[in-house]
Amino acid sequence: MHITIVGTGYVGLVSGACFADMGNKVTCVDVDTRKIDSLKQGQIPIYEPDLAAVVERGIKLNLLQFTTSLPEAMASSNIFFIAVGTPPGEDGSADLKYVLAVAREIGQNLQNYAVIVDKSTVPVGTADKVRVAIQAELDKRGVDIPFDVVSNPEFLKEGAAVSDFMKPDRIVIGADSDRARQIMGDLYQDFSRNHDKVMYMGIRDAEMTKYAANAMLATKISFMNEIANLCEELNVDVEEVRHGIGSDSRIGYSFIYPGCGYGGSCFPKDVQALVRMAESVNFDAKVLNAVEDRNLAQKQVLFSKVQRHIGDLNGKTIAVWGLAFKPGTDDMREAPSIPLINALLSAGATVKVHDPEAMQTSKREFAPKHIEDGLLVYCANHFDTADGADAMVLVTEWKQYRQPDFDLLKQKLKQPLIIDGRNIYNPEKLKQLGFVYEGIGRR
Ligand code: UDX
Repeated sequence: MHITIVGTGYVGLVSGACFADMGNKVTCVDVDTRKIDSLKQGQIPIYEPDLAAVVERGIKLNLLQFTTSLPEAMASSNIFFIAVGTPPGEDGSADLKYVLAVAREIGQNLQNYAVIVDKSTVPVGTADKVRVAIQAELDKRGVDIPFDVVSNPEFLKEGAAVSDFMKPDRIVIGADSDRARQIMGDLYQDFSRNHDKVMYMGIRDAEMTKYAANAMLATKISFMNEIANLCEELNVDVEEVRHGIGSDSRIGYSFIYPGCGYGGSCFPKDVQALVRMAESVNFDAKVLNAVEDRNLAQKQVLFSKVQRHIGDLNGKTIAVWGLAFKPGTDDMREAPSIPLINALLSAGATVKVHDPEAMQTSKREFAPKHIEDGLLVYCANHFDTADGADAMVLVTEWKQYRQPDFDLLKQKLKQPLIIDGRNIYNPEKLKQLGFVYEGIGRR
Protein backbone atom coordinates (compact mmCIF):
# COMPACT_ATOMS: atom_id res chain seq x y z
CA MET A 1 0.00 0.00 0.00
CA HIS A 2 1.08 3.60 -0.50
CA ILE A 3 1.03 5.68 2.66
CA THR A 4 1.84 9.29 3.46
CA ILE A 5 2.82 10.21 7.01
CA VAL A 6 2.83 13.87 7.94
CA GLY A 7 5.13 14.68 10.87
CA THR A 8 8.44 12.94 11.55
CA GLY A 9 8.43 13.13 15.34
CA TYR A 10 8.51 10.01 17.47
CA VAL A 11 5.16 8.64 16.37
CA GLY A 12 5.37 9.64 12.70
CA LEU A 13 8.92 8.45 12.10
CA VAL A 14 8.50 5.15 13.94
CA SER A 15 5.16 4.43 12.21
CA GLY A 16 6.53 5.38 8.79
CA ALA A 17 9.70 3.31 9.16
CA CYS A 18 7.79 0.30 10.51
CA PHE A 19 5.08 0.42 7.82
CA ALA A 20 7.89 0.48 5.23
CA ASP A 21 9.56 -2.45 6.98
CA MET A 22 6.32 -4.38 6.44
CA GLY A 23 6.63 -3.82 2.68
CA ASN A 24 4.48 -0.72 2.22
CA LYS A 25 5.63 2.27 0.20
CA VAL A 26 5.83 5.16 2.65
CA THR A 27 6.50 8.86 2.18
CA CYS A 28 7.23 10.84 5.34
CA VAL A 29 6.60 14.56 5.18
CA ASP A 30 7.86 17.31 7.47
CA VAL A 31 8.16 21.08 7.17
CA ASP A 32 11.62 20.97 8.76
CA THR A 33 14.00 20.94 5.76
CA ARG A 34 17.10 20.14 7.81
CA LYS A 35 15.40 17.19 9.45
CA ILE A 36 14.21 15.83 6.10
CA ASP A 37 17.68 16.29 4.58
CA SER A 38 19.35 14.32 7.34
CA LEU A 39 16.63 11.64 7.31
CA LYS A 40 17.27 11.18 3.58
CA GLN A 41 20.85 10.29 4.59
CA GLY A 42 19.51 7.82 7.15
CA GLN A 43 20.42 10.06 10.11
CA ILE A 44 17.68 9.99 12.71
CA PRO A 45 17.19 12.98 15.02
CA ILE A 46 16.35 11.00 18.17
CA TYR A 47 17.91 8.19 20.17
CA GLU A 48 15.61 5.21 19.81
CA PRO A 49 16.89 1.61 19.84
CA ASP A 50 16.55 -0.23 16.47
CA LEU A 51 15.01 2.74 14.67
CA ALA A 52 18.14 3.69 12.71
CA ALA A 53 18.44 0.18 11.26
CA VAL A 54 14.76 0.09 10.23
CA VAL A 55 15.01 3.52 8.58
CA GLU A 56 18.20 2.52 6.76
CA ARG A 57 16.59 -0.67 5.48
CA GLY A 58 13.54 1.23 4.23
CA ILE A 59 15.68 3.75 2.36
CA LYS A 60 17.84 1.02 0.81
CA LEU A 61 14.79 -0.89 -0.44
CA ASN A 62 13.32 2.34 -1.77
CA LEU A 63 10.22 1.80 0.38
CA LEU A 64 10.82 4.78 2.64
CA GLN A 65 11.09 8.30 1.28
CA PHE A 66 11.26 11.74 2.83
CA THR A 67 10.04 15.06 1.48
CA THR A 68 8.97 18.51 2.61
CA SER A 69 6.21 18.62 -0.01
CA LEU A 70 2.84 17.22 1.08
CA PRO A 71 1.25 17.62 -2.40
CA GLU A 72 4.12 15.61 -3.91
CA ALA A 73 3.64 12.83 -1.34
CA MET A 74 -0.15 12.89 -1.75
CA ALA A 75 0.07 12.29 -5.48
CA SER A 76 0.96 8.64 -5.02
CA SER A 77 -1.06 7.52 -1.98
CA ASN A 78 -4.59 7.32 -0.62
CA ILE A 79 -3.90 6.96 3.13
CA PHE A 80 -2.65 10.07 4.90
CA PHE A 81 -1.57 9.82 8.51
CA ILE A 82 -1.52 13.03 10.52
CA ALA A 83 1.23 12.57 13.12
CA VAL A 84 2.20 16.16 13.87
CA GLY A 85 2.64 17.55 17.36
CA THR A 86 -0.21 18.63 19.63
CA PRO A 87 1.69 20.74 22.16
CA PRO A 88 -0.14 21.98 25.24
CA GLY A 89 -1.62 25.44 24.77
CA GLU A 90 -1.36 28.06 27.53
CA ASP A 91 -4.20 26.46 29.50
CA GLY A 92 -2.86 22.89 29.07
CA SER A 93 -5.39 21.87 26.41
CA ALA A 94 -3.98 20.23 23.26
CA ASP A 95 -3.22 22.83 20.61
CA LEU A 96 -4.57 21.61 17.27
CA LYS A 97 -3.05 24.28 15.04
CA TYR A 98 -0.59 21.89 13.35
CA VAL A 99 -3.18 19.12 12.91
CA LEU A 100 -5.69 21.51 11.32
CA ALA A 101 -3.04 23.13 9.10
CA VAL A 102 -2.26 19.68 7.69
CA ALA A 103 -5.99 18.99 7.24
CA ARG A 104 -6.37 22.21 5.24
CA GLU A 105 -3.38 21.37 3.05
CA ILE A 106 -4.84 17.93 2.40
CA GLY A 107 -8.12 19.58 1.38
CA GLN A 108 -6.26 21.91 -0.96
CA ASN A 109 -4.52 19.04 -2.74
CA LEU A 110 -6.87 16.06 -2.56
CA GLN A 111 -7.53 14.53 -6.00
CA ASN A 112 -9.14 11.16 -5.27
CA TYR A 113 -10.85 9.34 -2.41
CA ALA A 114 -8.52 9.02 0.61
CA VAL A 115 -8.56 7.99 4.24
CA ILE A 116 -7.16 10.65 6.56
CA VAL A 117 -5.92 9.08 9.79
CA ASP A 118 -5.42 10.95 13.05
CA LYS A 119 -2.38 9.29 14.62
CA SER A 120 -1.45 12.17 16.91
CA THR A 121 -3.04 12.12 20.36
CA VAL A 122 -5.95 14.48 19.84
CA PRO A 123 -8.93 15.51 21.99
CA VAL A 124 -12.31 13.91 21.50
CA GLY A 125 -14.01 15.65 18.59
CA THR A 126 -10.83 16.39 16.61
CA ALA A 127 -11.74 14.06 13.73
CA ASP A 128 -14.89 16.14 13.23
CA LYS A 129 -12.78 19.30 13.09
CA VAL A 130 -10.37 17.67 10.62
CA ARG A 131 -13.32 16.65 8.44
CA VAL A 132 -14.76 20.17 8.51
CA ALA A 133 -11.36 21.72 7.66
CA ILE A 134 -10.85 19.40 4.67
CA GLN A 135 -14.40 19.84 3.42
CA ALA A 136 -14.10 23.65 3.63
CA GLU A 137 -11.06 23.53 1.31
CA LEU A 138 -12.83 21.19 -1.12
CA ASP A 139 -15.81 23.58 -1.15
CA LYS A 140 -13.49 26.51 -1.88
CA ARG A 141 -12.12 24.56 -4.82
CA GLY A 142 -15.67 23.70 -5.91
CA VAL A 143 -14.86 19.98 -6.11
CA ASP A 144 -16.71 17.01 -4.72
CA ILE A 145 -14.18 14.37 -3.63
CA PRO A 146 -15.20 11.76 -1.07
CA PHE A 147 -12.91 11.09 1.94
CA ASP A 148 -13.05 9.49 5.38
CA VAL A 149 -11.43 10.56 8.62
CA VAL A 150 -10.27 7.80 10.97
CA SER A 151 -8.79 7.82 14.47
CA ASN A 152 -5.91 5.36 14.93
CA PRO A 153 -4.06 6.33 18.12
CA GLU A 154 -0.53 5.09 18.75
CA PHE A 155 0.42 3.44 22.05
CA LEU A 156 4.18 3.03 21.61
CA LYS A 157 6.62 3.75 24.42
CA GLU A 158 9.85 5.64 23.91
CA GLY A 159 12.86 3.37 24.22
CA ALA A 160 10.81 0.42 22.93
CA ALA A 161 9.03 2.19 20.08
CA VAL A 162 9.92 -0.17 17.23
CA SER A 163 9.04 -3.35 19.12
CA ASP A 164 5.87 -1.76 20.53
CA PHE A 165 4.80 -0.84 17.00
CA MET A 166 5.61 -4.26 15.59
CA LYS A 167 4.11 -6.21 18.51
CA PRO A 168 1.20 -4.11 19.71
CA ASP A 169 -1.25 -5.23 22.41
CA ARG A 170 -4.02 -3.84 20.23
CA ILE A 171 -4.64 -1.59 17.24
CA VAL A 172 -7.51 0.78 17.81
CA ILE A 173 -9.36 2.02 14.75
CA GLY A 174 -12.17 4.50 15.12
CA ALA A 175 -14.06 4.76 11.86
CA ASP A 176 -17.59 5.45 10.71
CA SER A 177 -17.55 3.99 7.20
CA ASP A 178 -17.11 0.44 5.87
CA ARG A 179 -14.81 1.70 3.15
CA ALA A 180 -12.39 3.23 5.67
CA ARG A 181 -12.61 0.18 7.96
CA GLN A 182 -11.77 -2.06 5.00
CA ILE A 183 -8.72 0.00 3.99
CA MET A 184 -7.39 0.22 7.57
CA GLY A 185 -8.02 -3.51 8.04
CA ASP A 186 -5.97 -4.25 4.91
CA LEU A 187 -3.16 -2.03 6.14
CA TYR A 188 -2.98 -3.83 9.47
CA GLN A 189 -3.82 -7.34 8.20
CA ASP A 190 -0.40 -8.68 9.22
CA PHE A 191 -1.17 -7.95 12.85
CA SER A 192 -4.25 -10.17 12.80
CA ARG A 193 -2.61 -13.30 11.47
CA ASN A 194 -2.48 -15.15 14.81
CA HIS A 195 -4.58 -13.06 17.14
CA ASP A 196 -6.97 -10.43 16.00
CA LYS A 197 -5.28 -7.32 17.36
CA VAL A 198 -7.44 -4.86 15.44
CA MET A 199 -10.34 -3.29 17.35
CA TYR A 200 -12.94 -1.25 15.52
CA MET A 201 -14.97 1.34 17.34
CA GLY A 202 -16.52 4.78 16.89
CA ILE A 203 -14.21 7.69 16.13
CA ARG A 204 -14.80 9.51 19.42
CA ASP A 205 -14.42 6.23 21.32
CA ALA A 206 -10.99 5.71 19.76
CA GLU A 207 -9.94 9.29 20.56
CA MET A 208 -10.95 8.80 24.20
CA THR A 209 -9.30 5.36 24.41
CA LYS A 210 -5.87 6.89 23.91
CA TYR A 211 -6.35 9.48 26.68
CA ALA A 212 -7.97 7.00 29.04
CA ALA A 213 -5.08 4.52 28.57
CA ASN A 214 -2.43 7.10 29.37
CA ALA A 215 -4.44 8.59 32.23
CA MET A 216 -4.99 5.12 33.72
CA LEU A 217 -1.25 4.39 33.68
CA ALA A 218 -0.46 7.82 35.13
CA THR A 219 -3.08 7.16 37.83
CA LYS A 220 -1.40 3.88 38.79
CA ILE A 221 1.92 5.69 39.19
CA SER A 222 0.55 8.64 41.16
CA PHE A 223 -1.46 6.28 43.36
CA MET A 224 1.66 4.26 44.11
CA ASN A 225 3.70 7.39 44.79
CA GLU A 226 1.06 8.47 47.28
CA ILE A 227 1.14 5.06 48.98
CA ALA A 228 4.97 5.26 49.07
CA ASN A 229 4.91 8.65 50.76
CA LEU A 230 2.39 7.35 53.27
CA CYS A 231 4.57 4.28 53.87
CA GLU A 232 7.41 6.59 54.92
CA GLU A 233 5.19 8.20 57.53
CA LEU A 234 3.92 4.85 58.84
CA ASN A 235 7.29 3.03 58.87
CA VAL A 236 6.33 0.60 56.11
CA ASP A 237 8.45 -0.58 53.15
CA VAL A 238 6.57 0.21 49.95
CA GLU A 239 8.61 -2.37 48.03
CA GLU A 240 7.04 -5.13 50.15
CA VAL A 241 3.65 -3.57 49.54
CA ARG A 242 4.30 -3.36 45.79
CA HIS A 243 5.03 -7.08 45.65
CA GLY A 244 2.06 -7.79 47.84
CA ILE A 245 -0.44 -5.97 45.67
CA GLY A 246 1.14 -6.73 42.28
CA SER A 247 0.57 -10.44 42.83
CA ASP A 248 -3.17 -9.77 42.65
CA SER A 249 -3.86 -10.43 38.97
CA ARG A 250 -6.51 -7.71 38.99
CA ILE A 251 -3.81 -5.18 39.89
CA GLY A 252 -0.69 -6.59 38.20
CA TYR A 253 2.95 -5.62 38.61
CA SER A 254 3.31 -3.09 35.82
CA PHE A 255 3.25 0.68 36.33
CA ILE A 256 3.16 0.45 40.12
CA TYR A 257 6.82 1.36 40.65
CA PRO A 258 7.01 4.33 42.99
CA GLY A 259 9.57 6.95 42.07
CA CYS A 260 10.28 10.63 41.63
CA GLY A 261 7.27 11.32 39.37
CA TYR A 262 6.36 10.49 35.80
CA GLY A 263 7.67 12.56 32.90
CA GLY A 264 7.85 12.26 29.13
CA SER A 265 5.95 13.69 26.24
CA CYS A 266 2.68 11.91 26.98
CA PHE A 267 1.53 11.39 30.56
CA PRO A 268 1.87 14.95 31.87
CA LYS A 269 0.48 16.50 28.68
CA ASP A 270 -2.34 14.00 28.20
CA VAL A 271 -3.58 14.06 31.80
CA GLN A 272 -3.66 17.84 31.61
CA ALA A 273 -5.43 17.82 28.24
CA LEU A 274 -8.04 15.40 29.60
CA VAL A 275 -8.65 17.69 32.59
CA ARG A 276 -9.17 20.58 30.15
CA MET A 277 -11.55 18.43 28.07
CA ALA A 278 -13.53 17.71 31.24
CA GLU A 279 -13.63 21.42 32.11
CA SER A 280 -14.88 22.25 28.63
CA VAL A 281 -18.04 20.25 29.39
CA ASN A 282 -18.23 21.50 33.01
CA PHE A 283 -17.21 18.14 34.40
CA ASP A 284 -15.21 18.10 37.62
CA ALA A 285 -12.47 15.49 36.99
CA LYS A 286 -11.51 14.93 40.65
CA VAL A 287 -9.31 11.84 40.13
CA LEU A 288 -7.41 13.28 37.16
CA ASN A 289 -6.72 16.52 39.01
CA ALA A 290 -5.37 14.54 41.95
CA VAL A 291 -3.14 12.45 39.65
CA GLU A 292 -1.58 15.61 38.28
CA ASP A 293 -1.19 17.25 41.71
CA ARG A 294 0.50 14.19 43.16
CA ASN A 295 2.91 14.06 40.25
CA LEU A 296 3.89 17.72 40.56
CA ALA A 297 4.51 17.23 44.28
CA GLN A 298 6.44 13.99 43.69
CA LYS A 299 8.93 15.80 41.50
CA GLN A 300 9.95 17.86 44.57
CA VAL A 301 10.55 14.83 46.77
CA LEU A 302 14.21 14.18 45.83
CA PHE A 303 15.22 17.75 46.59
CA SER A 304 13.45 17.63 49.98
CA LYS A 305 15.27 14.42 50.85
CA VAL A 306 18.67 15.87 49.93
CA GLN A 307 17.93 18.98 51.95
CA ARG A 308 16.73 17.00 54.96
CA HIS A 309 19.98 15.02 55.07
CA ILE A 310 22.43 17.81 54.27
CA GLY A 311 20.74 20.97 55.52
CA ASP A 312 22.16 24.13 53.95
CA LEU A 313 23.16 23.22 50.39
CA ASN A 314 25.14 26.35 49.68
CA GLY A 315 28.63 25.34 48.56
CA LYS A 316 27.80 21.62 48.62
CA THR A 317 28.25 19.27 45.65
CA ILE A 318 25.59 16.79 44.57
CA ALA A 319 26.08 13.96 42.06
CA VAL A 320 23.08 13.19 39.85
CA TRP A 321 22.84 9.91 37.96
CA GLY A 322 20.39 10.07 35.08
CA LEU A 323 18.80 13.02 33.29
CA ALA A 324 16.38 11.47 30.75
CA PHE A 325 12.77 11.03 31.89
CA LYS A 326 13.33 7.28 31.75
CA PRO A 327 16.04 4.86 30.56
CA GLY A 328 16.44 4.05 26.87
CA THR A 329 15.84 7.56 25.58
CA ASP A 330 17.55 10.95 25.32
CA ASP A 331 14.20 12.66 25.88
CA MET A 332 14.20 15.27 28.64
CA ARG A 333 10.60 16.38 28.36
CA GLU A 334 9.08 16.81 31.84
CA ALA A 335 11.98 14.81 33.32
CA PRO A 336 12.10 14.80 37.16
CA SER A 337 15.81 15.64 36.89
CA ILE A 338 14.91 19.17 35.74
CA PRO A 339 13.14 20.44 38.90
CA LEU A 340 15.69 18.61 41.07
CA ILE A 341 18.73 20.17 39.40
CA ASN A 342 17.16 23.62 39.23
CA ALA A 343 16.29 23.47 42.93
CA LEU A 344 19.81 22.33 43.85
CA LEU A 345 21.37 25.13 41.79
CA SER A 346 19.01 27.70 43.34
CA ALA A 347 20.06 26.50 46.78
CA GLY A 348 23.71 27.23 45.90
CA ALA A 349 24.89 23.68 45.25
CA THR A 350 27.24 22.51 42.50
CA VAL A 351 25.60 19.71 40.52
CA LYS A 352 27.65 17.06 38.71
CA VAL A 353 25.60 15.05 36.27
CA HIS A 354 25.84 12.03 34.01
CA ASP A 355 23.46 10.35 31.59
CA PRO A 356 24.37 7.78 28.92
CA GLU A 357 22.25 9.47 26.22
CA ALA A 358 20.62 12.70 27.37
CA MET A 359 23.59 14.95 28.21
CA GLN A 360 23.28 16.87 24.95
CA THR A 361 19.47 17.27 24.97
CA SER A 362 19.56 18.25 28.66
CA LYS A 363 21.70 21.32 27.94
CA ARG A 364 18.63 23.05 26.50
CA GLU A 365 16.85 22.72 29.84
CA PHE A 366 19.28 24.63 32.03
CA ALA A 367 20.53 28.20 31.98
CA PRO A 368 23.91 28.21 30.12
CA LYS A 369 25.41 30.44 32.83
CA HIS A 370 25.29 27.52 35.29
CA ILE A 371 27.54 25.53 32.94
CA GLU A 372 29.79 28.54 32.25
CA ASP A 373 30.11 29.23 35.99
CA GLY A 374 31.09 25.63 36.65
CA LEU A 375 28.04 25.01 38.84
CA LEU A 376 26.47 22.48 36.50
CA VAL A 377 29.16 20.00 35.51
CA TYR A 378 28.72 17.32 32.83
CA CYS A 379 30.83 14.24 33.56
CA ALA A 380 31.91 11.63 31.02
CA ASN A 381 31.50 8.84 33.53
CA HIS A 382 28.95 8.37 36.32
CA PHE A 383 31.66 7.73 38.93
CA ASP A 384 33.28 11.08 38.10
CA THR A 385 30.15 12.85 39.33
CA ALA A 386 30.85 11.49 42.81
CA ASP A 387 34.30 13.02 43.20
CA GLY A 388 34.04 15.08 46.39
CA ALA A 389 30.23 15.04 46.32
CA ASP A 390 28.09 15.23 49.45
CA ALA A 391 25.44 12.87 48.05
CA MET A 392 24.57 10.79 45.01
CA VAL A 393 21.00 11.06 43.73
CA LEU A 394 19.77 8.37 41.35
CA VAL A 395 17.09 9.83 39.09
CA THR A 396 16.93 7.57 36.01
CA GLU A 397 17.32 3.80 36.39
CA TRP A 398 19.68 3.16 33.45
CA LYS A 399 21.02 -0.44 33.44
CA GLN A 400 24.61 0.70 33.96
CA TYR A 401 23.66 2.37 37.26
CA ARG A 402 22.01 -0.73 38.68
CA GLN A 403 25.05 -2.57 40.05
CA PRO A 404 27.81 -0.01 40.44
CA ASP A 405 31.10 -0.64 42.23
CA PHE A 406 29.89 0.64 45.60
CA ASP A 407 33.38 0.56 47.12
CA LEU A 408 34.63 2.91 44.42
CA LEU A 409 31.57 5.11 44.84
CA LYS A 410 32.14 5.32 48.60
CA GLN A 411 35.78 6.26 48.12
CA LYS A 412 34.81 9.09 45.84
CA LEU A 413 31.90 10.55 47.82
CA LYS A 414 32.73 13.01 50.60
CA GLN A 415 29.69 11.74 52.49
CA PRO A 416 28.38 8.20 51.82
CA LEU A 417 24.81 9.33 51.15
CA ILE A 418 22.65 7.78 48.40
CA ILE A 419 19.16 9.04 47.57
CA ASP A 420 17.57 6.46 45.30
CA GLY A 421 14.71 7.98 43.29
CA ARG A 422 13.76 4.64 41.72
CA ASN A 423 14.26 2.13 44.55
CA ILE A 424 16.78 0.11 42.56
CA TYR A 425 19.27 -0.52 45.38
CA ASN A 426 19.10 -2.89 48.32
CA PRO A 427 18.91 -0.80 51.53
CA GLU A 428 20.32 -3.58 53.75
CA LYS A 429 23.32 -4.14 51.50
CA LEU A 430 24.08 -0.42 51.31
CA LYS A 431 23.81 -0.09 55.07
CA GLN A 432 26.31 -2.94 55.48
CA LEU A 433 28.65 -1.15 53.06
CA GLY A 434 28.47 1.93 55.27
CA PHE A 435 26.15 4.11 53.20
CA VAL A 436 23.31 6.25 54.44
CA TYR A 437 20.52 5.22 52.06
CA GLU A 438 17.12 6.65 51.37
CA GLY A 439 14.72 5.48 48.68
CA ILE A 440 11.10 6.36 48.00
CA GLY A 441 8.72 4.96 50.62
CA ARG A 442 11.23 2.56 52.14
CA ARG A 443 11.54 1.92 55.82
C1 UDX B 1 3.73 6.39 27.58
C2 UDX B 1 2.80 5.17 27.39
O1 UDX B 1 3.36 4.05 28.10
C3 UDX B 1 2.63 4.85 25.91
O2 UDX B 1 1.70 3.78 25.75
C4 UDX B 1 2.09 6.10 25.20
O3 UDX B 1 1.95 5.86 23.82
C5 UDX B 1 3.02 7.29 25.44
O4 UDX B 1 3.20 7.49 26.86
P1 UDX B 1 6.36 6.84 27.48
O5 UDX B 1 6.03 8.27 27.81
O6 UDX B 1 7.32 6.55 26.38
O7 UDX B 1 5.02 6.03 27.08
O8 UDX B 1 6.97 6.17 28.79
P2 UDX B 1 6.55 5.10 29.91
O9 UDX B 1 7.48 3.96 29.83
O10 UDX B 1 5.11 4.80 29.90
O11 UDX B 1 6.93 5.91 31.25
C6 UDX B 1 6.34 7.18 31.53
C7 UDX B 1 6.85 7.72 32.85
O12 UDX B 1 6.31 6.99 33.95
C8 UDX B 1 8.36 7.67 33.03
O13 UDX B 1 8.80 8.89 33.60
C9 UDX B 1 8.59 6.52 33.98
O14 UDX B 1 9.76 6.65 34.74
C10 UDX B 1 7.34 6.63 34.86
N1 UDX B 1 6.96 5.38 35.51
C11 UDX B 1 6.56 4.31 34.76
C12 UDX B 1 6.97 5.28 36.90
O15 UDX B 1 7.31 6.24 37.60
N2 UDX B 1 6.54 4.12 37.47
C13 UDX B 1 6.14 3.04 36.76
O16 UDX B 1 5.77 2.03 37.38
C14 UDX B 1 6.15 3.13 35.34
